[in-house]
Amino acid sequence: MKNTVSTLLKQKQEGKKISMLTCYDYSTAKLMEEVGVNTILVGDSLGNTMLGYEDTIQVTMEDMIHHCAAVSRGLKNTFLVCDMPFMSYQTSPYDAVVNAGRLMKEGHANMVKLEGGKEVCPQIEAIVKASIPVCAHLGLTPQSINALGGYKVQGKTESDAQKLIDDAKAVQEAGASMLVLECVPADLAAKITKTLHIPTIGIGAGNQCDGQVLVYQDMLGMFTDYVPKFVKQFAGVGETMKKAFKEYMEEIQSGAFPAEEHSYKIDDEVIERLYF
Ligand code: KIV
Ligand code: NA
Repeated sequence: MKNTVSTLLKQKQEGKKISMLTCYDYSTAKLMEEVGVNTILVGDSLGNTMLGYEDTIQVTMEDMIHHCAAVSRGLKNTFLVCDMPFMSYQTSPYDAVVNAGRLMKEGHANMVKLEGGKEVCPQIEAIVKASIPVCAHLGLTPQSINALGGYKVQGKTESDAQKLIDDAKAVQEAGASMLVLECVPADLAAKITKTLHIPTIGIGAGNQCDGQVLVYQDMLGMFTDYVPKFVKQFAGVGETMKKAFKEYMEEIQSGAFPAEEHSYKIDDEVIERLYF
């Protein structure tokens, strides 16, 4: 059965946790769908993980559409969320609707995600009016990195925590049907989750959110240069990949690869009659 906004809301009501992973390409999307991941996010983290940008500021609409469309071709039933990149919605509700529409029409997303609270509520309202479901994103919002001054936990002081609660209620009121909470103290995320009727998805926000999301390269252990506190490595895929790359190089040198079973044949008689 195809996941929808209503099945995800039902999951919250029934206390069944929502699993979300980021994904940026066709073959990985197929693997995630095969095991039944509930929701896939084409995050603008693709700027970091796939494109090697320093932050998510540089990510364009074209980047997002390109990767979202690729992921969508690998999915049949999985609910697909796509990030709105920096400056595709901040400028006006009109721009927000046009760009959310492109992510849906050209990227085949089922829902768009944008960062911010009260300040983006007019955008959320406008997108929802265009029949496009919206996921909000509060706490650490990487598109505001220059204003926040660093990747760190948010909502620790009383006033910051109160602002987070007010923003969470405001985005729900504006029509958002899901909310990502990033780098928020666990107890605060738990209270916000209880207060809201829409599902919350946590990343670095404790285990009381309605669901969890991780960047797939982080949870697979493909990036080990910098591992944030909230990441759990469920595998050491980076090491596995390096081992395979090395064996491949060694077998090329030794002649072990390609073996006969990887090679094509021609009749001996034919090859003998040829002039070289
Ligand atoms: O871009 C992203 O991957 C995200 C998640 C980490 C929530 O926004
Ligand atoms: Na993002």
